[in-house]
Amino acid sequence: MEPLDFSGGTVFSERGRLYTASLCPGKRIYGERLTAVRGTEYREWDPRRSKLSAYLHCGGKEFPFKKDGKVLYLGASSGTTASHVADICPEGKVFCVEFAQRMFRDLVGTCETRPNMMPILGDATKPEEYSMFVDSADVVYQDVAQKRQADIVCNNMDAFGAEFGMVAVKARSEDVVAPPEKVFAASEDRIRERGFQILDARPIEPYEKSHEMIVFRRRA
Ligand SMILES: C[S@@+](CC[C@H](N)C(=O)[O-])C[C@H]1O[C@@H](n2cnc3c(N)ncnc32)[C@H](O)[C@@H]1O
Repeated sequence: MEPLDFSGGTVFSERGRLYTASLCPGKRIYGERLTAVRGTEYREWDPRRSKLSAYLHCGGKEFPFKKDGKVLYLGASSGTTASHVADICPEGKVFCVEFAQRMFRDLVGTCETRPNMMPILGDATKPEEYSMFVDSADVVYQDVAQKRQADIVCNNMDAFGAEFGMVAVKARSEDVVAPPEKVFAASEDRIRERGFQILDARPIEPYEKSHEMIVFRRRA
């Protein structure tokens, strides 16, 4: 198990597969493979189940998560990726926002396995509705398949004073007919207009079709 140097020792690689060190040994969240090495249990991080893992598999190296970081995670679903983010930030906190009741029920179960995950039933387009649960965030990570993805993530960055943002843009959710590259360019432009600097932007194919991961930070 070799730590990825840019991850601050939080993400590991072995024979082309990625892993995080499990905060809750013995427990699988989505049927992932568990491997024990010298007293630490690692969970395989599947790029076909997680766009953040797909970004790393596609060569992405902008990784704003810190061991003690606070992350606002928008579109947590049942907590697959969020559980790996919780492994990455063992001394921090992951605020997990999800608006679908059915997914939220599963998310609550996932959060029970990790004391640093907090489930929030809320709509990412209305940060004021969950501001009482989130004091601040260092990073906003967003994976919601709907329109105006760039504005939603920027509104949350502003609401919680976050320095870094990461958004998985699904082209088809913005415009079903436009070429994905056009949608990605428009999302990047909008993020710049909102006062942020793009650190990296890359498609995450073949793991997710017509998706791009954009990593950005507040301009000084
Ligand atoms: C692609 S799934 C997320 C998968 C998850 N990020 C993962 O990697 O494990 C998108 C999720 O966003 C949720 N969602 C969509 N729009 C939302 C909104 N405005 N507020 C909160 N959740 C939203 C959907 O209910 C769905 O569960």
